[in-house]
Amino acid sequence: MTALTLSTSAAPGLRADAIVIGVAKGAEGPVAAPGAEAVDKAYDGRLAGVLETLGASGAEGELTKLPAPSGFKAPLVVAVGLGAEPDGKDADAGYDAEALRKAAGVAARALAGCRKAAFALPVDGPGALGAIGEGVLLGAYSFDTYKDTAKDAKNGKAKNGKGPLAEAVLLGGKPRDAAHKAALVRAAAVCEELNRARDLVNTPPNDLTPQAFAAIAQGAAKEHGIKVQVLDDKALVKGGYGGLLGVGGGSEATPRLVKLSYTHAKADKHLAFVGKGITYDSGGISLKPAGHNETMKCDMSGAAAVFAAVVAAARLGLRVNVTGWLALAENMPSGSAVRPGDVLRMYSGKTVEVLNTDAEGRLVLADALWAASLEKPDAIVDVATLTGAMMLALGSRTFGVMANDDSFRTAVYEAADEVGEPAWPMPLPEHLRKGMDSSVADIANMGERMGGGLVAGLFLREFVGEGITWAHLDIAGPAFNEGGPFGYTPKGGTGSAVRTLVRLAELTAAGDLG
Ligand code: BES
Ligand code: MN
Ligand code: ZN
Repeated sequence: MTALTLSTSAAPGLRADAIVIGVAKGAEGPVAAPGAEAVDKAYDGRLAGVLETLGASGAEGELTKLPAPSGFKAPLVVAVGLGAEPDGKDADAGYDAEALRKAAGVAARALAGCRKAAFALPVDGPGALGAIGEGVLLGAYSFDTYKDTAKDAKNGKAKNGKGPLAEAVLLGGKPRDAAHKAALVRAAAVCEELNRARDLVNTPPNDLTPQAFAAIAQGAAKEHGIKVQVLDDKALVKGGYGGLLGVGGGSEATPRLVKLSYTHAKADKHLAFVGKGITYDSGGISLKPAGHNETMKCDMSGAAAVFAAVVAAARLGLRVNVTGWLALAENMPSGSAVRPGDVLRMYSGKTVEVLNTDAEGRLVLADALWAASLEKPDAIVDVATLTGAMMLALGSRTFGVMANDDSFRTAVYEAADEVGEPAWPMPLPEHLRKGMDSSVADIANMGERMGGGLVAGLFLREFVGEGITWAHLDIAGPAFNEGGPFGYTPKGGTGSAVRTLVRLAELTAAGDLG
């Protein structure tokens, strides 16, 4: 992981591989952002013109490399686009945190393989500093576990994968200011755990079985003073967890339910996070066709997000109790797999007619939601790569937020917006419930095709305890990036929803939620 430090050194004297500066889109062309003064001065005040000559406009995501001016110890200047310049008439207008995060991410990714880079982006307070730190840590991420990264004997260069930028020195902050230091500590705690969630998502399903995931959770819990409890297949049978057992029944790798409890001695609120952890979703007997299963290792992204958020909350010592529930199973077809037509008796006691074994996420979540409900938390938030329908509705970068409480849905949506995670509120229309009526069981696991994401949400609602505030995040779109990297988002696992969950825990700790 990239090391973050704060420095008050002047850019010219810094020994680094590159100096990163910001360039914004001004009314009459590119504008060098605050932080770039030393570079501009060394270019005799012509930096904006130089950037324009090189084709820079200041657009978000844009990256322009130029040789460092003479007198600089670093050889390279990297100018990253910040988008529109903040309105000069508005005294409070600084650069938007998300613009800073994206720009820092783009630069950090471009500097993969480098030893050290200095970031001279506009910093007007701890918020901006934290955003830059997050962008660096998230943008520098790479997943090389399964690649031969040994150096080539002939030229000493890495054969395969460059490895992340080793060290980022952030300029413009105040190393002795408590708020500035805290912003970096928070960025490191959240982003290191978020990157671990990405690692879990990217780990192939032959290695990341439910058992392996549970073991990783046990290790991390021990390290961070979190209480952990793992129910294996025997314990699940004993407890009557029909959803987890039904879905996991087709796989040699048996299911697990992991409970992580972070507690704070002075907490007066309790949040429960529940994650869908299908380590591989083949569809089961309702097998997915080729073209639909290549990325299904990502189907445990919800559980990875919950795990990361609980550990981050513990690392930050938030004054709130947070329980994380990881519903882990592998959905495979076999002679012991659940069949379309089977009826499962769930942990809550309700029976479910399985009409499609590919609608498995709601079955494992149903058991975990009920287990979470028995503790009567103040609120439950579940996170799941639940439906292709949500991707059709919102695209591949935005998650849907459903809830049994309008103001809680708004609060979750606003928390997501605040941390830079695209989200959108979705309804739970009552008329869609009757499509799940079953002639043999209390409910079927499928309903109308139209509004499939909302149907899934309505199914989950049936397994939330009476009177408990609940929200459901369907992250099927943003959990896994099948396209090229953008901003601070890499290809593959993205760590979607981690920052939203951490923010919800912080807001609850501060008494600003519920
Ligand atoms: N894991 C999938 C949903 C999914 C699809 C996630 C694409 C990420 C990308 C889920 O288990 C599933 O198969 N859902 C079905 C439900 C249907 C059978 C009611 C779907 O969306 O097609
Ligand atoms: Mn499925
Ligand atoms: Zn699934």
